[in-house]
Amino acid sequence: MKKTLKDFDFKNRRVLVRLDLNVPLNDKCEVADATRIEASIPTVEYILNRGGSVVLMSHLGRPKAYDEKLSLKPVAEKMSELMKKDIKFVPSKKVVDEEVIKAGEALKAGEVMMIENTRFREEEEKNVPEFSKDLARLGEIFVNDAFGTCHRAHSSNVGVASLLPSAIGLLVEKEVKFFQEALREPDRPFTVIMGGSKVSGKISIIENLLPKVDNLVIGGGMAFTFLKSKGVEVGKSLLEEDKIDFAKSCLDKADELGIGIYLPIDLVVADSIDSTDTKTVDYDEIPANMMGLDIGNKTIELFSDVIRGSKTVIWNGPMGVFEKDQFAEGTKKVGEAVADAPLSVVGGGDSAAAAEKFGLEGRMTHVSTGGGASLELLEGKDLPGIKAIEEM
Ligand code: 3PG
Repeated sequence: MKKTLKDFDFKNRRVLVRLDLNVPLNDKCEVADATRIEASIPTVEYILNRGGSVVLMSHLGRPKAYDEKLSLKPVAEKMSELMKKDIKFVPSKKVVDEEVIKAGEALKAGEVMMIENTRFREEEEKNVPEFSKDLARLGEIFVNDAFGTCHRAHSSNVGVASLLPSAIGLLVEKEVKFFQEALREPDRPFTVIMGGSKVSGKISIIENLLPKVDNLVIGGGMAFTFLKSKGVEVGKSLLEEDKIDFAKSCLDKADELGIGIYLPIDLVVADSIDSTDTKTVDYDEIPANMMGLDIGNKTIELFSDVIRGSKTVIWNGPMGVFEKDQFAEGTKKVGEAVADAPLSVVGGGDSAAAAEKFGLEGRMTHVSTGGGASLELLEGKDLPGIKAIEEM
């Protein structure tokens, strides 16, 4: 058993808390979906209510160095608004410097501050000990409540856990319990729906999921790599050339195992993501100068039938660019079918945002804050962010 918040006395202690505040931002750099922020609040309040002070940290996006557009400032403001509490944002291009350390030391019981995006330091994703040491100077106890990032081994979740007494937070506890208990032996047919634009990470997860599922439905940006592996021309659609062979071997493996794999049979295409001039074409008729940006009606029907015939459904990733009305229908209709399943799980920031946009959140059994993390739990993997936390 991992240590949890209950194992610590927080009175007059400064607690360094890793959250996953990797939320979508709109064109004006405002928070477009606050699901992950809302889910992070109970742990922060738990510590504050017990007399502690809190230093918050998170990553946002995938910057390789300082990038003003990926500052956590709007996130700190949004969280402050939701908590109705002042959160002091202490920015530094180096994430941690002497000023930031001083601000941490000056925190009084009941106060909260947030530091800048941890990925502004290139050491973060390499889990370089020097950066972990810098971060560890900001607290006396470390709490990891960044469920969505637990499948990563970075300085701010794994490195720092080896330097401070550590615990998992309330969100991580809740998510892990759900995936371990509710999905240990899923009622069948068990269907996983994959989509979204983060292709590379997910393609390898698919391979490990194959032996566990009855059906795999693939839509969104990643579908084009699979279509291409079948010799289909995908025009200007999102494509990961270096994953085509891998996609082909996944399809072959699924065939061998007798698993139903469903790919789009028609697509809504346009010449750019901003275009409103769209048309629907069969999967093998994508014009060379156009890109697929949503699934078409025939695909919606096919996917919905598979989903409605399933007892357990996990939905990870939208079917198209649902943020734009002209490419939202596929994600909306698939989301509605998922919501009708006896056990429905939404995983990942984008699908959770879609579920909220279409008013489906309350109809799902569980909306997870982790995409990759929840899939890796499902694969039966030990997540490094959790593994690094002290045992009781
Ligand atoms: C996510 O959104 O899945 C997590 O925040 C992890 O982000 P990453 O895939 O950029 O590591």
